[in-house]
Amino acid sequence: MLIQAKVPVGLLLVLPFDANIIYQDSCLRDNFFGNYLDGGRINSIISVSSDSPCIDSLQQYVQPSNFTLVPELGKQLVWVEQTAVADSLKAIDGAYMGQGNGNQEALHLNPSRDDPLVSLQTLYQVHHRTKGAALLSVDSGSARNIDTLLPRYWKSTLLSQQPISYIPVPDAAIEPVRQVLSKLKFDPIVASVVNNISIPHMKNDIRFLTGEDGVSGIISRHSFSLGAITAAHWLKQRFEDTGAKCKLKLFLEGFAPNVVCRYASTRNTNDTIIISGHYDSRGSFGSTRAPGGDDDGSGTTAILAIARTIARKGVKFHRNVELVAFAGEEQGLLGSKAYARELREAGENITLMIQADMLAYRAPGEPLQLGLPDIIGTPEVTQLVANISAIYSPELVVGYTPACCSDHQSFHEQGYPSTQVFERAGPIVDPMYHNSGDLSDREGYSFVQLYAIAKVQFATVLHTAGFELED
Ligand SMILES: *[C@@H]1O[C@H](CO)[C@@H](O)[C@H](O)[C@H]1NC(C)=O
Ligand SMILES: *[C@@H]1O[C@H](CO)[C@@H](O)[C@H](O)[C@H]1NC(C)=O
Ligand SMILES: *[C@@H]1O[C@H](CO)[C@@H](O)[C@H](O)[C@H]1NC(C)=O
Ligand SMILES: *[C@@H]1O[C@H](CO)[C@@H](O)[C@H](O)[C@H]1NC(C)=O
Ligand SMILES: *[C@@H]1O[C@H](CO)[C@@H](O)[C@H](O)[C@H]1NC(C)=O
Ligand SMILES: [Zn+2]
Repeated sequence: MLIQAKVPVGLLLVLPFDANIIYQDSCLRDNFFGNYLDGGRINSIISVSSDSPCIDSLQQYVQPSNFTLVPELGKQLVWVEQTAVADSLKAIDGAYMGQGNGNQEALHLNPSRDDPLVSLQTLYQVHHRTKGAALLSVDSGSARNIDTLLPRYWKSTLLSQQPISYIPVPDAAIEPVRQVLSKLKFDPIVASVVNNISIPHMKNDIRFLTGEDGVSGIISRHSFSLGAITAAHWLKQRFEDTGAKCKLKLFLEGFAPNVVCRYASTRNTNDTIIISGHYDSRGSFGSTRAPGGDDDGSGTTAILAIARTIARKGVKFHRNVELVAFAGEEQGLLGSKAYARELREAGENITLMIQADMLAYRAPGEPLQLGLPDIIGTPEVTQLVANISAIYSPELVVGYTPACCSDHQSFHEQGYPSTQVFERAGPIVDPMYHNSGDLSDREGYSFVQLYAIAKVQFATVLHTAGFELED
């Protein structure tokens, strides 16, 4: 029972994710458009055109709630979902920065005067809708800005135009991580290196990225902003100052580039360890200011602080180490998707990848924390990070967070072991999340926590890559 859609007719399925089913059914595997979150649930999107031989075989998965109209030709599909934020945060929404845009947790899909998507009203079509998520199709021009039109606690992902491959992380790829975990113990040299991360440098760096220094001129680091380009060039320079080789890698026209920096191994190996953050940002609805001090100036500053320490301590790695600042995260992990796909297509071996996204906010009265993903991520990598935290940053209370998913998801989808580090063992409580007031000079912005989590990310690299110190 296919719904007769406007031409061309096809099938668009939203199914609960099941790795075994997707991997074993070639019709699902070859027409897979990715996994998308809806609260704690993972959905897979499958799309086939009417002339596909898969149309018939996919009907076994079709129930009225699993299929939907296919988009019109040339339209861009966008998944939008509610972010995991604490109720306390929803309650105070609109009470600061003169936003006055209350009731932002509701996504109104019936266009009305109050609808943040009103400017898209003639342009979007709803294909799937639950309380916490929706699959829309919009014209491609609007798609690129959809993150700026969404209510604050909703985020969007542009679907790729082509099917993507689904590659489960192979057991053999996790073996090196298990080995590091089994041999893990306190190393005083690792401790002396990671403890050398400089908080004063982080304070300077973040003020450049947010524009708080009054010198960088950065107003926004939104992926399409001039500030993002300024930040990209500045980051490349700073990383190169530390001895890394960097590239600005364009991934989609109009977007600021990924900044990819590499420390070549001193040994004969192609194995690579990646740590990353995203330097693009998102501000308040209707404002051009998007300083992104916490999201994700904090993760970006952490990897830059690690780079500065690599240089100061003369660290030479036994495996290749890449430090990456992604763009396009706020539009749906676009920069990291492009890079992870490129690495997979080139047959690169990524030992592990750790994304740092939002590290600095600590709610008044709460302990220093480290949040790890409970949905998307490789459990062994998450365990390794948790154990390393207990050794080198015991002041952090470690736990799981439902706030998911940052750029590690892109690597996870390509079958690379990966995880994320986050500022809290629970949902987001930063009142300046996706807000134009996300500065570093404010209550709750904790450089002590940022330092402690950066140490964990760095110690994980040192233990996994192996290293020596120059001299
Ligand atoms: C179809 O979707 C519903 C919920 O939307 C889900 O419970 C059901 O398992 C899905 N059917 C299949 C075959 O996946
Ligand atoms: C880091 O190490 C360098 C050189 O070993 C030293 O001069 C500097 O004071 C240290 N900084 C911190 C913050 O520990
Ligand atoms: C590294 O990769 C290059 C290019 O793919 C290959 O020629 C070389 O043999 C590889 N080196 C190792 C140690 O695997
Ligand atoms: C990746 O690792 C596999 C297995 O160790 C090896 O065969 C392959 O050559 C490696 N790829 C590169 C690019 O070195
Ligand atoms: C890792 O931590 C867990 C507890 O969180 C502990 O049971 C386990 O022994 C630790 N593993 C290693 C290798 O330290
Ligand atoms: Zn982020």
